[in-house]
Amino acid sequence: MKRPDEHVIILFGATGDLAKRKLIPGLFHLARAGLLPDRYRIVGSARSALSDEAFRKHAHDAIATFGLAEPSGQAWQSFEASLSFGAADPTDPEPLLAAVRAAEKSLGGRPRRLFHLAPPPAAFGPTIDMHRHLGLRGCRVRGRVADEAGKGRSRYPRRRPSTCENSGRDDRI
Ligand SMILES: NC(=O)c1ccc[n+]([C@@H]2O[C@H](COP(=O)([O-])OP(=O)(O)OC[C@H]3O[C@@H](n4cnc5c(N)ncnc54)[C@H](OP(=O)(O)O)[C@@H]3O)[C@@H](O)[C@H]2O)c1
Repeated sequence: MKRPDEHVIILFGATGDLAKRKLIPGLFHLARAGLLPDRYRIVGSARSALSDEAFRKHAHDAIATFGLAEPSGQAWQSFEASLSFGAADPTDPEPLLAAVRAAEKSLGGRPRRLFHLAPPPAAFGPTIDMHRHLGLRGCRVRGRVADEAGKGRSRYPRRRPSTCENSGRDDRI
């Protein structure tokens, strides 16, 4: 199976129950199975600030408790190294922006961005609105939004603002 392109995965609600039980262990499982890109970064986000180290410990504990495999060895070291954290709320997305930029810079090139929404449903709209601070509002080319119910897709109609570069892909928000 062809591996996905290089990605920065931005996980909103990264400190919540769903992320702890399912999303973080699931991402580790995908990494172990060779189903994540060869090179990727995962940037956790929530309103409350967390250091990268604290987020890595949070991920370790989540995987140890809810994962299918122990977070140890080379697989864990590689996964752990991919993790960072950037707090964000609608009035101050700057820490997240800095974390995303650092993750992209560490990969080099032009990695794609995948936004996974796992905050409460009422926060989906404001969270997506924050994307304009990342230069991605409404972008259907380099950014994608995922949530477990697909609710993020209907909130924003398809359009192509001037901030997006067109690679001909059809990844809609
Ligand atoms: N838990 C499950 O097993 C489960 C299963 C299926 C679906 N879901 C869905 O998953 C979503 C999250 O559920 P959860 O149980 O993980 O909730 P949770 O434990 O309350 O966690 C919510 C997460 O979102 C952040 N958050 C809360 N309010 C926010 C806001 N206004 N803006 C941005 N971030 C905010 C929280 O951190 P901060 O407070 O620091 O921002 C935290 O990281 C919900 O939509 C829920 O319906 C959950």
